[in-house]
Amino acid sequence: MNHAELTDEEYAKFCGLIYRVAGIRIAENKRVMIGNRVRRRLRAMGITSFGAYYAHLTSPAGNGEMPLFLDAITTNETYFFRDPHHYDWLGESFLPELAHQAALRRRPSRLRIWSAACSTGEEPYSIALKLLERKLLLAGWRITVLGTDLSGAVLDAARAGRYDARAVRLVEADTRRACFDEDPKTQRFSIKPEVKALVTWKQHNLLSPLKEDPFDCIFIKNVLIYFDKDSKQIVVRNLIESLARGGYLVVGPTEGIYAMLDPLRKLKPWLYQKPA
Ligand SMILES: C[S@@+](CC[C@H](N)C(=O)[O-])C[C@H]1O[C@@H](n2cnc3c(N)ncnc32)[C@H](O)[C@@H]1O
Repeated sequence: MNHAELTDEEYAKFCGLIYRVAGIRIAENKRVMIGNRVRRRLRAMGITSFGAYYAHLTSPAGNGEMPLFLDAITTNETYFFRDPHHYDWLGESFLPELAHQAALRRRPSRLRIWSAACSTGEEPYSIALKLLERKLLLAGWRITVLGTDLSGAVLDAARAGRYDARAVRLVEADTRRACFDEDPKTQRFSIKPEVKALVTWKQHNLLSPLKEDPFDCIFIKNVLIYFDKDSKQIVVRNLIESLARGGYLVVGPTEGIYAMLDPLRKLKPWLYQKPA
């Protein structure tokens, strides 16, 4: 098979396509990385040239291939309790404040959290673990934790909920014992059904509005780094639209959207609130 390097022209075509479909701007120096990732799809499809693959991908017959192409291109690195201070805030400030407001009948006993671009599920499951830790505060509440991602493959992995030791390294030993089944042979950790039951999954592109009721809290972390300003602006507009009044946006350290969050009140460099 002839899997030569991507030419300048092919590289530009794939980058243009990735930008149009996912909003991700690929830097000029990523040609080898993109070539390697696209090559995996060529192999899987038994196609011998990048040109033929591009033609297939952009033809009506290539509709089914597009999600697999995007799976190959995107970076899915994640782990449980990434940025632990976000989860400390969730458990120690956000949930007690909500419970307090509900006790005063200033809000319903209902909680909706969205983990946007959740990859293989570690982020929404970490949120679910915090909710379980504070379950006495939330007794009788209607709770939704939604994990969404562009990639169907990562969502399949999230649904399966099996992780290696690296992914769970920041999970406290007690929580690991209580909420995962460890397979000593494979050293894999399977998330227990009661945690799984707290999370629902949906394939979604951040460039489109999410057609769901508003959320009390949205996590948007480690995804927008590769988006250009125009795409970031679209995503930010969609996120603010999905946030309930008084709801919080938790922003990852690399998003580069701080200057676009004017409609929200800044509480911390990574925490914003929609005015009530
Ligand atoms: C590095 S992971 C971040 C996972 C998690 N939020 C975290 O911080 O650990 C980035 C995820 O963003 C997803 N992604 C990339 N472009 C997207 C888009 N346009 N819409 C939705 N998800 C997207 C990728 O599929 C990938 O799973």
